[in-house]
Amino acid sequence: MTLLHTLFHDPAPRSVRLNVAMAEGLSLPDGSICVMRPRAGEQFTPLPMDRLQMVQGFAPDYTALQAAGHTVSATPLPAPSALICLPRSKAEGLGLIAQAVAGGAQCVMVDGQKTDGVESVLKAVRARVAVGGVVSKAHGKLFWFSPGAETFADWQLAPQAISDPDHGAFQTMPGLFSAGEVDPASRLLAEHLPDTLPARIADLGAGWGYLAAACLARNGVEELHLVEAEATALELARANITDPRAQFHWADGTQPLPLLAVGGVIMNPPFHTGRTPQPALGLAFIDSAARLLTGRGQLWMVANRHLPYDRKLSERFSQHQILAETGAFRVWHASGPRSRPAQNPSRQRRERSR
Ligand SMILES: C[S@@+](CC[C@H](N)C(=O)[O-])C[C@H]1O[C@@H](n2cnc3c(N)ncnc32)[C@H](O)[C@@H]1O
Repeated sequence: MTLLHTLFHDPAPRSVRLNVAMAEGLSLPDGSICVMRPRAGEQFTPLPMDRLQMVQGFAPDYTALQAAGHTVSATPLPAPSALICLPRSKAEGLGLIAQAVAGGAQCVMVDGQKTDGVESVLKAVRARVAVGGVVSKAHGKLFWFSPGAETFADWQLAPQAISDPDHGAFQTMPGLFSAGEVDPASRLLAEHLPDTLPARIADLGAGWGYLAAACLARNGVEELHLVEAEATALELARANITDPRAQFHWADGTQPLPLLAVGGVIMNPPFHTGRTPQPALGLAFIDSAARLLTGRGQLWMVANRHLPYDRKLSERFSQHQILAETGAFRVWHASGPRSRPAQNPSRQRRERSR
């Protein structure tokens, strides 16, 4: 179990709704069932495990689903049935429906909590096709339909182009972080990077590559490693960052990356899983940055200013300072990574100053 999975919510509601749906007569065609965007630890009984084909591009969930014995792919595969586990973004949820239909699904099940916006997706589907049934239970809904001749092709996700005055054109995608615009916190960090950076840099949680582009525009960079858990974001980063100094890693940034050792880390760490704020994720990113950095390594990081990162920075770095602050965000520079967290950094500081 990784940190992300210990943060995960109740795994059973989908199973509760699927049981009721089966009892009410939902029947599936023979063959595989493509389960799109399942999270680690979720339960899908009474669906037969040997027919489930999990589709998950988020590396931590991918790894955990595989460890639980599922067949997992990062990209959708054709299947006669599909179960869409609604993600946070409605555009992405509709895109998954279109993908399932394009993959030949004759039975499409859509499941989500109220907080996932399932009601609004149900309304959008009902405007196009007859819905076979709806189960409302455990603070969410499961509904199913047969697409017939409807292709939902206009719901397919398509890249959105944006142009940044400093770093040029980028492709982004609905459902990803900062889709359709540069994130203001990342822009603030980019503005406060020094003119010259260490030769080997890692961009932790690189997204579609904005901060990577800002790094490559600085002097001194010879190698830049983009580490990103979301496969679609990394794919876009590959398209956006064509500089040969860039290397791309589809990986969970909270886990050790043993082959990487760098002189600099830049990051705008994630602090959500789904809709729930999870500052622990940012703390895990600070730990990772300290592990990745060599002896004199430096970290440049931006985050919402209310997030409690100061103490962790003191534990993992011998020095840190605030480089910039706005009403919403804070940019830090830290140096001198510690291989192990300091036990009581404020006491150590007091002792050093004696
Ligand atoms: C706040 S966004 C920053 C994105 C990009 N650096 C930017 O500035 O636009 C955080 C990024 O971390 C990624 N992410 C979330 N959890 C991750 C994990 N465990 N490992 C690696 N990346 C992760 C998200 O997909 C997202 O792209």
